[in-house]
Amino acid sequence: MRAPHSPDLRELTGLPLPVFVAPSAQAVALALAQQLVDVVGSAQAEGRAPRIGLATGRTPQALYRVFARRVADEGVDLSTLLTFHLDEYLDLPREHPASFRAQMHERLYRHIEHPAVRAHFPVECDQRDDLDAACARYEALLAGAGALDWQLLGIGLNGHVAFNEPGAAADSRTRVVTLSESTRLANSGDFESLEAVPRRAATMGIATIRAARRLRIVALGPSKAGIVHELIHARVGPDLPATLLRDHAGCELWCDAAAASEL
Ligand code: PGA
Repeated sequence: MRAPHSPDLRELTGLPLPVFVAPSAQAVALALAQQLVDVVGSAQAEGRAPRIGLATGRTPQALYRVFARRVADEGVDLSTLLTFHLDEYLDLPREHPASFRAQMHERLYRHIEHPAVRAHFPVECDQRDDLDAACARYEALLAGAGALDWQLLGIGLNGHVAFNEPGAAADSRTRVVTLSESTRLANSGDFESLEAVPRRAATMGIATIRAARRLRIVALGPSKAGIVHELIHARVGPDLPATLLRDHAGCELWCDAAAASEL
């Protein structure tokens, strides 16, 4: 799937992966919402359930607003949609509003009436026992569903993707991880204090993510300009986990002008 033709959208060529730059975060959201509508429609035209991988965090929020509005305005049929999430915090009470399940409900699912049984997370945020077994079950669920049609990803300031922090192996699978202090600080706005940010999470691994047919890494705003530069120019390796996605045949990077300003 190529980017829709838009006079505002630039494709940067000669880089190790396709990079699309739109003038604003809203323009990125509009373009990716179109892709999401198209991917859902194509799967349904093939007579099967669309399988979409979604991300939490600040980056996808405008995309989810645009997508929900299009679903409402155009009556996009999501009745067979299956969604799979990259990650979830651990050690939070079930009803905590910052759990990724709660955030997704608030920002997307309640607006599109997507039932919880069709939204899959590697673990529940208050789960304590048998976490390794839960992660293995998530891998089996993904393998049984078939390759995801489209996977959305943010990128952390330290180059993490999902919660694969620096050091994550290329062959990593869904597992429990310890969050870096940089990640905890970046996400602390969702919590009452830095101390309240969980120290553990469950995350798809790099190999899990690479099984999707299309990867869309999105970076918005000036704070991401440095890491976007590194994603493109650094040596591929676990020090910067996002680089481990760079040679995926279906991977694209989508930026607003501010995030692309150092390219
Ligand atoms: P953000 O997080 O979208 O909140 O910047 C991205 C990430 O940590 O993957």
